[in-house]
Amino acid sequence: MAGATIWSLLEPSALLDPHPIYREWYGRSPVLWSPEIEAWLITGYEEAFTALRDAERFCQDWRRVGVDTPASLLSLQTLDPPEHTRIRHLMLEGFKAADLEALEHSIRAALDESLAEVEGADDFDFVTKIAEPLTLHAVTRLLGVPHVAPDWFVPRSHTIVDGMDSSLRPECYEPGVQARAELSALVGEWFDAPLPEGFTAHVVRRAKEAGVERDVLHNSLRVVLQAGFQTASRFLTAGLYALLRIPPELRRPVDNDLAVNELVRFASPVHVESRACVEDTVLGGQQIRKGQIVSMFLGAANRDPRAFDAPDAARWDRTPNRHLGFGRGPHACLGAQVATVIARIVFGTLGHRYPNARLVAEPHPRPNVTEHGMFELHVAL
Ligand code: HEM
Repeated sequence: MAGATIWSLLEPSALLDPHPIYREWYGRSPVLWSPEIEAWLITGYEEAFTALRDAERFCQDWRRVGVDTPASLLSLQTLDPPEHTRIRHLMLEGFKAADLEALEHSIRAALDESLAEVEGADDFDFVTKIAEPLTLHAVTRLLGVPHVAPDWFVPRSHTIVDGMDSSLRPECYEPGVQARAELSALVGEWFDAPLPEGFTAHVVRRAKEAGVERDVLHNSLRVVLQAGFQTASRFLTAGLYALLRIPPELRRPVDNDLAVNELVRFASPVHVESRACVEDTVLGGQQIRKGQIVSMFLGAANRDPRAFDAPDAARWDRTPNRHLGFGRGPHACLGAQVATVIARIVFGTLGHRYPNARLVAEPHPRPNVTEHGMFELHVAL
């Protein structure tokens, strides 16, 4: 593959803005073969949309193409219909059993408390002071489980995200497996704890009747905790970085669902979702062979000029906005509604209360290509 290589995505400048590389790939072909990682790089909207929706041809359960999956990984995220449908319905019941109004109040109160601590500071780190603790609070409250200490949870959780990039950084694979086992042990404690009525209590009680095995339920609760925490906290950071780069006089508070969705299209942290091809097929004019990997670059697809007018501009009232930031098809994000609530509260509050907030330093990006993140984001309100 001539031009920008897959490794160039690990450059700090590309971790902060990968779009020049995405555009170059897209210009060559929206479905491009990478011999470096032996996978198809999908940067086109239609092609990514098709592969995400078509679980018959593009699987999330890699056992269908002969790849062994350990029992500890079988979950909502790694199964395909019809097994996937049972656990997905059960998890949807869980979301319905949660009290979203009480959750919203509790997020507002936690945010006010955190802001009171940093308000007068000339410089504070938004990642560790607000984005991470607030999101961990929100996700554990949503699940209706005991408080989880950020000092224990957050480093393990980042190690799991590092492991998701093991095709680029193989040394991250084993630590990721170990960290996942530690999170699993935490989730195991919830099964035996007396929990208040709500998400987890509901799904644990209903699992047998719904035909969901205990292991799959266990792993899926771990996925909700991990996916919810990482994507939402990284989105708060990436979103704030994008907003604070706009001059104050041109900014407006991102305080409604339309604007939050445009920020997800424009600055979502989730850049890559992969599937395996189940049968020889054609996608975007390219012949994909059975067993080959297709990696959908959601950030690129969300700026495909065939799908969005002025794709590199944030238009807060963009309608329709059929972005892929929350995925599509059978595995589309289950937490999109909750993520939107968290983002609306945080960006709305910051935008209205601190219209002149500013970046104090350029951020230090984490070396993650699949799910972008930052070690720190220094801000003054
Ligand atoms: C802005 C924040 C978020 C973004 C950008 C995001 C993005 C995504 C994307 C792209 C997928 C699709 C994965 C795939 O196709 O393989 C997904 C799935 C998922 N998300 Fe989110 N997400 C966010 C927040 C959340 C939250 C807060 C939760 C839970 C509280 C959550 C729970 C899940 C779960 C459980 C799945 C797997 C669904 C399945 O495989 O059936 N997400 N998310």
